[in-house]
Amino acid sequence: MHIITVCLGNICRSPAAEAVLTRALDEAGIEGVTVSSAGTADYHVGERPHPSSTAEGESRGYAFTTRGAQFAVGDFDGGDLVLAMDSGNERDLLALARTPEDQAKVVRLGAFASDAGDGVRDVPDPWGAEREAFVAMYDQIEDAVAGLVRALQEDRVGEVVAAQRAPR
Ligand code: 4NP
Repeated sequence: MHIITVCLGNICRSPAAEAVLTRALDEAGIEGVTVSSAGTADYHVGERPHPSSTAEGESRGYAFTTRGAQFAVGDFDGGDLVLAMDSGNERDLLALARTPEDQAKVVRLGAFASDAGDGVRDVPDPWGAEREAFVAMYDQIEDAVAGLVRALQEDRVGEVVAAQRAPR
């Protein structure tokens, strides 16, 4: 299984989600799941993740090795789950999707969060914001990733994706 985390620029949120998910899978002993990240925009292709994102992430022990990449429609072929950080990312991904099968891979990360029962929250865009926004971003991502890991362990990912999609 391959999971792609997606935000707008691929320098703040999606590299953070990639790093958090990679370590959480490792700690949970889940094998056979790989993770990458991408942005819907091409603004930061080839760039290292944003210093505010890596600073907070490294303080939590995460490692950052990737460079900015833009999500391409062919990425649906290699991905089984495409995790959008916010509803704008989700809308852009659904617009790119070629088939119902592509669409069915797209879900907001917040669908796995502990507060998802109150409605799925976006991971807000922290670009240009103060350090506290990056702290809150990691807190939110870590919570949702823990939910995603549990859903993987309990084979409930498809159910969560379908439930988020249902009201459309
Ligand atoms: P990200 O944050 O989508 O979490 O990587 C952003 C990074 C760059 C821009 C917007 C959001 N930008 O407009 O360049």
